[in-house]
Amino acid sequence: MGARMIGIGTALPEKVITNHDLAEMMDTSDEWIRERTGIRERRIGLPTSTLGIQSATAALEMAGVDPSEIDLLILSTATPDQRVPGTSAVIHAELGLRCGAFDLNAACAGFTYGWVVTQSMMDAPGGPRRALLIGADSLSPVTNWEDRGTAILFSDGGGAVVLEHTNEQTMLSWDLGTDSRHRRLIMADHGAKLSMEGREVFKAAVLSVSDSVLTTLERAGLEPDDVDVLLPHQANIRIIEAICKRTGIAFERSCNVIEYTGNNSSGTIPLAMAKAHSEGRLRPGAVVVMTGFGAGMTWATTVTRW
Ligand code: ACO
Repeated sequence: MGARMIGIGTALPEKVITNHDLAEMMDTSDEWIRERTGIRERRIGLPTSTLGIQSATAALEMAGVDPSEIDLLILSTATPDQRVPGTSAVIHAELGLRCGAFDLNAACAGFTYGWVVTQSMMDAPGGPRRALLIGADSLSPVTNWEDRGTAILFSDGGGAVVLEHTNEQTMLSWDLGTDSRHRRLIMADHGAKLSMEGREVFKAAVLSVSDSVLTTLERAGLEPDDVDVLLPHQANIRIIEAICKRTGIAFERSCNVIEYTGNNSSGTIPLAMAKAHSEGRLRPGAVVVMTGFGAGMTWATTVTRW
């Protein structure tokens, strides 16, 4: 048993910051940023709750599902609006939901962690029939806009999916991981901005994600060539290229939005999923691999039969 996606929606702030804008604020250049990260521009200016409400409203509309029919809300975010209550409660109130709701924080691996949790709960006896899974982050308020090592990467954005129970098996395998020895590589204390050891994160991400993807495919009895669509966390296009090379998944199978969104943490995979959907790549039966990594360091991979 499992759950199928019957609706998807996205949210991005209107305000665009181009690489040229950043080059006026700090010692960097459009050429350097594009070459090292694949990013041209990013969007900032909305809190996590608004990103969640906007994307969930669009997902519910596409699914043709009334909020009263949703049995579970999970919000993946590392940037809640406030410490207490969870931002899922703010979204719950605004949408008029009647179900249980909670926040999940696994940094940029959060949406994929959330996919595994949601699918597993829907698979359990008496589990929810319809669930809303949102990935949204507002990184701009925790970004140090004077640090060229992080400000070129981070942004705000989100996406939401409506999942509906099915008797077919949809999630074929998964792998969740945390290497807490690396927990200080990306950090933001209460009231502080994000700090990151970029080069170390780059190396750790390529190794852990490549291993995780291969492990998850093996658990599903599949080969890299069986992957129809790869939805990787959008942190740096060079990381995605390196993962494709190490795993043997053709880069053309990946779906990427980073050029115009930057890295908005839990928002990136649903944003890439929405793009793959609009391009008709998420056809029934397709083998879809989601894989994310982030602060912790966490990683998560799933293989889903669409
Ligand atoms: N513009 C120009 N020059 C720069 C910039 C910049 N924005 N940033 C760094 N440099 C310089 C450095 O000072 C260094 O100069 P030096 O050789 O004279 O010392 C040189 O460029 C190379 O610096 P590196 O840090 O080695 O550059 P790298 O190619 O590793 O790129 C980057 C840096 C883009 C941050 C890369 O390491 C990266 O993407 N890392 C992964 C980050 C990531 O995935 N983070 C998301 C985690 S998810 C989450 O939880 C939010």
